[in-house]
Amino acid sequence: MITRRRFLGGTAAAAATLWAPRMAGAQVAAFQTPLPIPELWDARARGGALELVAAEGRHAFRPGGSAWTLGFSAPYLGPTLRVRRGDEVEIAVENRLPWETTCHWHGLQVPARVDGGPHIIIPPGETWRPTMRIDQPETTLWYHAHPHYDTGRQVYLGLGGMMIVEDGSGGRLGLPREYGVDDIPLILQDRLFDSSGALLYALRGHQRMTGMRGDTLLVNGVVAPVAKVPKGLARLRLLNAANARNFDLRFSDGRAFHVSASDAGYLPAPVRMNELTIAPSERFEILVDFSDGGTVDLETGADNRMLGGMGRGMMRMMAGSDAGTLMRFEVDASKRARTQEMPAELVDLPAPDPDRAIGTRRISLDMGPSMMRGGMGRGMRGGGMRGGPPLGINGRAYDMNRIDFEPRLGTTEIWEVTPNMMAHPFHVHGVIFRVLSIGGRPPAPHLAAGKDTILLDEPGELLMTFTQPVTRDYPFMVHCHILEHEDGGMMAQYGTVGA
Ligand code: C2O
Ligand code: CU
Ligand code: CU
Repeated sequence: MITRRRFLGGTAAAAATLWAPRMAGAQVAAFQTPLPIPELWDARARGGALELVAAEGRHAFRPGGSAWTLGFSAPYLGPTLRVRRGDEVEIAVENRLPWETTCHWHGLQVPARVDGGPHIIIPPGETWRPTMRIDQPETTLWYHAHPHYDTGRQVYLGLGGMMIVEDGSGGRLGLPREYGVDDIPLILQDRLFDSSGALLYALRGHQRMTGMRGDTLLVNGVVAPVAKVPKGLARLRLLNAANARNFDLRFSDGRAFHVSASDAGYLPAPVRMNELTIAPSERFEILVDFSDGGTVDLETGADNRMLGGMGRGMMRMMAGSDAGTLMRFEVDASKRARTQEMPAELVDLPAPDPDRAIGTRRISLDMGPSMMRGGMGRGMRGGGMRGGPPLGINGRAYDMNRIDFEPRLGTTEIWEVTPNMMAHPFHVHGVIFRVLSIGGRPPAPHLAAGKDTILLDEPGELLMTFTQPVTRDYPFMVHCHILEHEDGGMMAQYGTVGA
């Protein structure tokens, strides 16, 4: 007999016909659960080889709860993998799930045949053993399942974890670096639960448009945790691992913080901000001063980023996400603060040089009407209509057997990327790009370093340099990181001529 809980989690299509009741008993005592810190797996300390196991598990999102989940070597989420620039590492992934999966190293600059995209399927019972050379600046990345049509559900159920690349620069700069103490991973998500406390992946009509969203905010897999921090400067490694929602982060007392790094590494200097938007799959490192000794909450604003010209009815149909509190920070004076002072400068970062581009490529992120303009019917044949709205790139739904672009290895191009209907977090595999403009204006300072994901609510110009080998058999993906958009067809792929 199949239990209801298992049934809901296991079959998204069947769950789609159910409506989602509000979580009963959602008002548990907040800020009592200590912030869980994912285990740190250091590749050097483990002889250059790591082995993850993707499996089912049970996890307590709240004290006393227990829900069916998926994880990498953990009931939910996975360990933080730390790798060192210049090293060669093997990161094996064993699939103990009843379905095919893949494991993608999001933001890692490695050849396409080891990047774990949808073509690199790990069948149930098998182990994938890629080896790769780490060669990119120090930063925070993540890894997650990426099987076509099932990425949204598998990541939602827990298949994601953080990854850290080190090259020694953070140590030289004197940045906080005691993992879990003053260098804290924060994996931000939203989820929907049914009245029994089971995770609900329920794609109703509008959830296919807006992506899967939930009314419950999680940090490192738990509701409303509290972190004890030393009385000094802390580095928070923020990862938005939500399927679809953007977080507009701020502290409850309005305190300023400094953004020190984004997706692909450090900024030239810390950027002072009071509110920071982080889109799905983006990472930011922020430096926060807790030396005042007080208690403060990390909050998010509401998220509803429809683009101009949307009617009121459409706005209602595509309801966004509410504001809420993610977690609390309390200062623990008994913890020794190693860092009090923030460096004034971080790294040398040359300005992006658009003159290096050999051409411009236009990419539109299409849904609904803009998809129709791109050619009615093609989306349907490509699979983008699998029970959902038409979603695609340049008017076509993703097709695993079609190479959409063929940039040349070693060259630089400008990509003009146009979002339609709503803001989309645009992501490219195998490239660290620079943002030249969004809406015709230069990017905000905290978006001016290397990126692999950028939230576009207006057309953006991105400077792409192709450095990683890619073939027609193992292409790189280009997609919206709203996972239901990606699964629904808003994805394309590129091979490289000259690889
Ligand atoms: Cu997080 Cu195709 O990627
Ligand atoms: Cu990626
Ligand atoms: Cu999208």
